[in-house]
Amino acid sequence: MLEDIRKPILAELESYQQLFRSSLQSDNALLSAALEHLTRKLGKMMRPTLVLLCAKEAGTVTDEVMHAAAGLEMLHTASLVHDDVVDESDMRRGQRSVNALFDNKAAVLVGDFITSKALAEIALTHSLEAVERMAWLGQTLADGELLQLGNTQRSTFSREAYYEVISKKTAALFSTCARLGALLAGGEAATVALLEHFGHLVGLCFQLRDDIFDFDESLNVGKPKGNDLQEGKLTLPVLYALDGCDDYYRRLALKVRAHEASRLEIQELVDFTIRRDGLEYAESEMLRLRDEAVALLNDLHNREVAQALHHYIDYVVQRNL
Ligand code: IPE
Ligand code: IPE
Ligand code: MG
Ligand code: MG
Repeated sequence: MLEDIRKPILAELESYQQLFRSSLQSDNALLSAALEHLTRKLGKMMRPTLVLLCAKEAGTVTDEVMHAAAGLEMLHTASLVHDDVVDESDMRRGQRSVNALFDNKAAVLVGDFITSKALAEIALTHSLEAVERMAWLGQTLADGELLQLGNTQRSTFSREAYYEVISKKTAALFSTCARLGALLAGGEAATVALLEHFGHLVGLCFQLRDDIFDFDESLNVGKPKGNDLQEGKLTLPVLYALDGCDDYYRRLALKVRAHEASRLEIQELVDFTIRRDGLEYAESEMLRLRDEAVALLNDLHNREVAQALHHYIDYVVQRNL
């Protein structure tokens, strides 16, 4: 399926990888070791792929588009390095996370370095709008992660608050990839707006799938499972299950959220979520958003790109990685 997605941009994706790897280098020994570790596994490259496909729809893939793709993936990479510190997670992409291999101090600083490298790449687009959008994005990602952290102190359960968190921490990055790809390739305002909307919906689906993954012990996605509840994160499946349920489970959920629950109690909340069809509900919400995204593709001009983007959103909702 990844081949179908990448078909229209194979050569461009190849040059993108070279650019990404060559700009993430350093002569500082510790930094160089961490960067080498990080660039060994490039992940699924969903974000640069979206930048390149949207650029193809809007015009041509220029050097400026390449720099945007590299800069946005760097911001993503830095946010994962920091996220694994925040979530105390020891695995990423099937290998040890930077915080586990080195330590938290090194991981914070490596993440800072990569964030600055990301800004340098965006500066090379020579687009003030791209720089402004990148600044907005950095703030929005941090805002989303902080909102999520703050939610663990709340005594109410809100699906709106969940959607606000995932819009900020995940969908903003996807919508920016689509927007900047289209914009820097010279796309018309209507095309840019349509692709940005598509990117936003993709991002929501992406995080919903990720949050559903967290309940599935049978999948090997290269990072730990069950982390969300352990970190006190109540995601959509749990929030749905809690709706209108008796006080016992609401108290249990508050305990999990406050990091005061035992392993057995966390498992009890997992079983309750599954029993109340929380996973089916999250899945159906994700598919509703996927249909909304697919409908947007009818208005694209380049049929090859439209097909690739169709495969892209299908991969996002069906993926097992
Ligand atoms: C992980 O993103 C972070 C989330 C938004 C859930 P990806 O699953 O795209 O990570 P990589 O880049 O492919 O490893
Ligand atoms: C997404 O949240 C991380 C960012 C958007 C930075 P998660 O904490 O669920 O991501 P994973 O599961 O660790 O990849
Ligand atoms: Mg995490
Ligand atoms: Mg997750």
